[in-house]
Amino acid sequence: MPPPEPCTCTIARLAPARDLDAVAAIEAMTFPSPWSRAMLGAALAPSLRPHAYVTRSDQTVTAYCIGQLVVDELHIHTFAVHPTWQRAGLGRRLLEAVLREAESVGIAATTLEVRRSNIAAQRLYESGGFAQRGVRRGYYRVPPDDALVYWRRRADVASTSRSPSSRSPSVS
Ligand SMILES: CC(C)(COP(=O)(O)OP(=O)(O)OC[C@H]1O[C@@H](n2cnc3c(N)ncnc32)[C@H](O)[C@@H]1OP(=O)(O)O)[C@@H](O)C(=O)NCCC(=O)NCCS
Repeated sequence: MPPPEPCTCTIARLAPARDLDAVAAIEAMTFPSPWSRAMLGAALAPSLRPHAYVTRSDQTVTAYCIGQLVVDELHIHTFAVHPTWQRAGLGRRLLEAVLREAESVGIAATTLEVRRSNIAAQRLYESGGFAQRGVRRGYYRVPPDDALVYWRRRADVASTSRSPSSRSPSVS
């Protein structure tokens, strides 16, 4: 099935009771070593200050991001677009919305890990103002891979056209 126009997807805060099953299903489809539903649910505990969003086409979850606010940093734990909706601009839209919402609550820097072999994700993050700042060798076990540690500091990207502050993705 071809993806719909990406602009038909809305972006909203992840609602665990409503979205967790769909998020876990996409996680299982997109990662070789996926987080379980229980792990995803645990990451959404309010005490952990989750920063989690989904995109929906009608009632269907098409992408998600689960992160955690740590003092003035956002740590993104998992981020994926349903395979049917990939390569339609949705990952970029969601990432920009997630960063914009984080900045609106005072987040100064965002970090995440990405497999060395995951060129698609690296390109997405680099185009969003992230830069590689470190490597965790052998971090991933299944299949074995290094983790590249990416950071995006708000001050470094504030004046660029890719800054989410200068765009207006809609979060409902
Ligand atoms: C990585 C991922 C989130 C990208 O989402 P997406 O909606 O397909 O990406 P977009 O259409 O918004 O593309 C944004 C940019 O990402 C890069 N990109 C996306 N898919 C790519 C691919 N298959 N090959 C190379 N670059 C790719 C491109 O730079 C693209 O910009 P362009 O269209 O101007 O060339 C998606 O492929 C995915 O969910 N992958 C599986 C899970 C995953 O790897 N998550 C990230 C873990 S760190």
